[in-house]
Amino acid sequence: MTPPVSSALSPSLFAIFKGLVEERVGIHYGPGDVEVFASKLWARARDAGFDSLLDYYYFLKYDADAKGALEALIDALVVNETYFHREADQLHVLCDAVIRPLLAASRGRRARIWCAAASTGEEPYTLAILLDERGLLGDVEILASDVSTRALARAQEASYGPRALRALPDSFRGRYVVVDGERATVDARIREAVTFHRINLLDDEAIARLGTFDAVLCRNVLIYFSDETMVRVVHSLAGRLKPGGFLLVGASESLLRVGTLLSFEERGGCFFYVNKGRST
Ligand SMILES: C[S@@+](CC[C@H](N)C(=O)[O-])C[C@H]1O[C@@H](n2cnc3c(N)ncnc32)[C@H](O)[C@@H]1O
Repeated sequence: MTPPVSSALSPSLFAIFKGLVEERVGIHYGPGDVEVFASKLWARARDAGFDSLLDYYYFLKYDADAKGALEALIDALVVNETYFHREADQLHVLCDAVIRPLLAASRGRRARIWCAAASTGEEPYTLAILLDERGLLGDVEILASDVSTRALARAQEASYGPRALRALPDSFRGRYVVVDGERATVDARIREAVTFHRINLLDDEAIARLGTFDAVLCRNVLIYFSDETMVRVVHSLAGRLKPGGFLLVGASESLLRVGTLLSFEERGGCFFYVNKGRST
């Protein structure tokens, strides 16, 4: 087979593959993404034993045995960029202005938090550490999920290189994150405080089975979705919030443009969306 070049991805092949990816995981691609999309697609097609992208497409779309190949393609396409203490002001405010008063008022009930696109784990581990620093971790259940099997495996290994550690606070070093040369490992107690699951944000049934949460973090993933998918996902996440529960999105993500039934609130200089009493 002639080594494929990006131009080998015709407009019609791009259209059907981008439609398939959007249908399965919500990620939306525009015309500017063709080159990078094509090279990842060809690499995964070859790995799966195909030298025709059309045959690969039909396999992914219709074959009952395509689950592993589809997961491999998703793993190749998703952007797993994350790091410890990312957009941390919002997490500090969540701990101090939401979780602490909630626990104080809840007479023994544990709080539940879901990190819904947790990537390789730095975000839920950061949250667990911030809660532990405040003596709150034992009263909080943290569930973390992502659609990427590869990212989840790395999250559970909890071993990180310099990119993940670039904003690591000094207070985390040694006590919570054991640094050894260029790499660092998360302390076992923090690892054990976070439970990881593979959950696709488009899978309404799997999401409904998770129960309800006091806070849901869905940060820096909505930007990859179309407005239509964003509305659908936010609706599904809002349905998992307890009355009074908080939804956190990334600093560059706003739901105001697309609209939501949740109330927009500012706390401690950070923005949150709140379920004002709607029982689900
Ligand atoms: C850029 S990372 C954000 C990680 C973290 N929330 C943060 O803010 O640092 C985006 C993550 O969203 C995940 N993702 C993309 N589409 C998804 C979907 N349909 N369901 C669940 N996770 C998805 C990707 O696998 C990736 O790990």
